[in-house]
Amino acid sequence: MSDSKIVKLVDESTSRSSELPLLSGTLGPACIDIGTLYKDTGHFTYDPGYGSTASTKSAITYIDGDEGVLLYRGYPIEQLAEKSSFLEVAYLLLNGELPKKEEFSAFEHQITHHTMMHESLKDFFKGFHHDAHPMAMLAASVASLSAFYHDDIDVDNAEDRKLAAIRLIAKMPTIAAACFRYSIGWPFRYPRNNLEYVDRFLHMMFEVPSEPLELSPVAAKALDLLFILHADHEQNASTSTVRLVGSTGANPYASIAAGITALWGPAHGGANEAVLKMLEEIGSADKVETAVKRAKDKNDNFRLMGFGHRVYKNFDPRAKIIREMTHKVLNELGINDPLLDVAMKLEEAALKDDYFVERKLYPNVDFYSGIIYKALNIPTEMFTVMFAIARTAGWIAHWIEQHETPGARIGRPRQIYTGADVRNYMPVDKR
Ligand code: ACO
Repeated sequence: MSDSKIVKLVDESTSRSSELPLLSGTLGPACIDIGTLYKDTGHFTYDPGYGSTASTKSAITYIDGDEGVLLYRGYPIEQLAEKSSFLEVAYLLLNGELPKKEEFSAFEHQITHHTMMHESLKDFFKGFHHDAHPMAMLAASVASLSAFYHDDIDVDNAEDRKLAAIRLIAKMPTIAAACFRYSIGWPFRYPRNNLEYVDRFLHMMFEVPSEPLELSPVAAKALDLLFILHADHEQNASTSTVRLVGSTGANPYASIAAGITALWGPAHGGANEAVLKMLEEIGSADKVETAVKRAKDKNDNFRLMGFGHRVYKNFDPRAKIIREMTHKVLNELGINDPLLDVAMKLEEAALKDDYFVERKLYPNVDFYSGIIYKALNIPTEMFTVMFAIARTAGWIAHWIEQHETPGARIGRPRQIYTGADVRNYMPVDKR
């Protein structure tokens, strides 16, 4: 991190000026440090949506949106997708290095032995209506972990923070499976320690008392890959939410629950559910042209879900990997899903349409993931829950990094006030 260069900003109306250091990281554009701007000039900066603003320093994930590059702790996503596993990636995100054999065994052992939900937490589910959205149940259940562990955790203690990370990564699949089973009236399943992370989750999702469950290695491999690809994505909306809540000193369960609710929106993680609903609505390849026309019409609210990204102005590297995986999974499972044809036609039409080309709108991570989830019998409303299981690794890594950073302050943006000027209260009979 170098701060050798200075940008000088002068307000000509007052002659007040500020000398602002230029900060550089390992990769990526340099940032103007505006920390003293208000003191020096009396001005704030204005950047709604954070188009040009770095909110933090972070050593976890790097994205080059123009080149379509994504690195976790320096490792290209393509290499991790091909060679690693979700649990190894979670270790990497949390600890900064790939684990040695014994380190991984110890981590896996810890995760495996923290997967149970408190029996009282299971009773919370009875309060939900049977058709509650699983993301609503997930957010509420994770927030309620605070009620079990709040007094246990000192956010300033590194060991306590680590234990919270283990608990969250371990329990998330158990809670997620419970959300699904509650919605269809099936009894909850206890996590089985003899299974690996993803198999254990699939077992908790689909095992029924009446017959043994044959776990498909193709399904487990596909899900593990999707979890790797969704594990982190630097300062996206949900991670920034976790950090903002975390900056107040709130406990990690409350912070992650806030991240889950931010993820739910269709402009963010909720897009995977929205993509599948959109593909079903389009229905067949011959209706693709109409859909593209609607997406371009500014008087129509319809957008191509799974297209566009704030950072990627090129192919989302995760979408490329998932696209290839979709064909493979469907082939290996012997599924012929007409929605894949619709998706491919839609992608093809959009990529050669001037509107999408000019705006650099490419398929994002969510465009094809839903077709894989569907092939694995995961219901559409659970798609964003799947995303949340994976992203928990990233969220908690950021929450820990934030607490390890010296001099961190509460996140507190400013505003341009556009309301009424000062005025006097009028008694009701004079208004
Ligand atoms: N379909 C049609 N037009 C689009 C789309 C889309 N999917 N995405 C962006 N545009 C257009 C906008 O209308 C705008 O056009 P204009 O310049 O004529 O006004 C231009 O492209 C820029 O779009 P913005 O909304 O300003 O881009 P922003 O960076 O704010 O939004 C976002 C990014 C939210 C992802 C947006 O592209 C979108 O809504 N996509 C669909 C939802 C989606 O797939 N979200 C998942 C993102 S990945 C993730 O979070 C996991």
